[in-house]
Amino acid sequence: MSAPRRLALAAVTMASLLCFYLLPWSQLTDGLSVFRSDSPDSESSLCGDRASPTPSPAAHAYNVFGKTTEPSFIGDAYANEDVPPQTDCPDGIRSRVLRSDVAGLFLKNIPVLQQSTDATPAQYSRLSRYVGANGWGSLAYPVLSDTLALLNSSANGIMLDDWARRGNRSGCIRCAVVGNGGILKDSEKGEEIDSHHYVFRTNGAVLTGFEKDVGVRTTHYTFSTNTLMNSMMSYASAGYRGPPQSQEMRYVFLPDHDRDYLMMKAAAQHTLVERGREQGKDPTAYFGKDVTVAKLKMYHPDFIRYLRNRFLPSKTLKTKNRNIYRPSTGAIMLLAALHRCDRVSAYGFMTPQYKKYSDHYYDKQYHRVGFFINHDLMLEMNLWQRLHQAGLITLYMRS
Ligand SMILES: *[C@@H]1O[C@H](CO)[C@@H](O)[C@H](O)[C@H]1NC(C)=O
Ligand SMILES: *[C@@H]1O[C@H](CO)[C@@H](O)[C@H](O)[C@H]1NC(C)=O
Repeated sequence: MSAPRRLALAAVTMASLLCFYLLPWSQLTDGLSVFRSDSPDSESSLCGDRASPTPSPAAHAYNVFGKTTEPSFIGDAYANEDVPPQTDCPDGIRSRVLRSDVAGLFLKNIPVLQQSTDATPAQYSRLSRYVGANGWGSLAYPVLSDTLALLNSSANGIMLDDWARRGNRSGCIRCAVVGNGGILKDSEKGEEIDSHHYVFRTNGAVLTGFEKDVGVRTTHYTFSTNTLMNSMMSYASAGYRGPPQSQEMRYVFLPDHDRDYLMMKAAAQHTLVERGREQGKDPTAYFGKDVTVAKLKMYHPDFIRYLRNRFLPSKTLKTKNRNIYRPSTGAIMLLAALHRCDRVSAYGFMTPQYKKYSDHYYDKQYHRVGFFINHDLMLEMNLWQRLHQAGLITLYMRS
């Protein structure tokens, strides 16, 4: 059963509100000049600047650019998904958002995940205007439709698909979202993290040896094929051997390239990856021998573009690097939880005291946080502060 979706032109009318909110957020970034290739999120192949001559449906102000016409690569109109709330939680994020100063950023019906019913020629022509994680511009229609056709169970389209087994309508869904920041070292937060209904992790999430600080459970693991491969290389010495595996695990793919669709297809069918950079690789080596299609999910490109445009509109969007900029994998994970959980506790994310802590909790010696041109960690750090102050997340700050 998949919810009907239609293009939300209503989103465009939100634009005047948007400008008001985006303005103060766009002045936070400078000095993102280092581009190291050993970051899990770094990109070694850059997407081409695909021509997109189609004008946006309604020209409106977009203040990151200080122009009255939205540049065509922005696309601040999205598919619409009618997501029935899973609980009647009285003071959950959903109701608190409405009373917060970031209310204007949120679209209640933004689809977070994509599934089989999304792969239509009409949607392809709409989304192929956007490259990388923002759309389908980096992949051919047959690759898209072959892969999404496999995501046809209701679990594929629902982030917290087993809530009925874990709780009930009158409860509130509590999620822990765990980044890999050095602030977690010696935090002894493991038990607290594991006590949430759901535990989200990403990229080089090394658990063995750090259970006391970061916990042992993972229910949702977010990654792109690129970040996974980079993590396997970069964090092997810290003990990272691939995504955690467990009975309750869901793998949430962040599709940056056709690599991700090819990996997803192979994982769902228990075959080797048929071509591309991972050709011949066996997905069960990463996701376990008993991985099933019901455990696989994939972020919707509209969700990623929506996060970029509204929550993390970096100044990088005004530069020639705009096509390699996207919110970090950890930011996408945290904002996905914000859109689906009733309460979110965030651990291991960057705070204003970030210089006091090493890059990762498992670093053997202090290693300063690295800044890369494809993300805007200062903008993200400010967003976490703002969401914390608005009472929408509880950010672990180790004060
Ligand atoms: C989903 O797709 C698979 C493989 O194509 C097919 O065997 C199965 O019957 C489909 N399930 C549903 C619920 O449509
Ligand atoms: C539903 O969940 C709430 C909160 O966890 C709990 O207090 C209540 O007993 C549960 N109700 C049922 C019928 O299980």
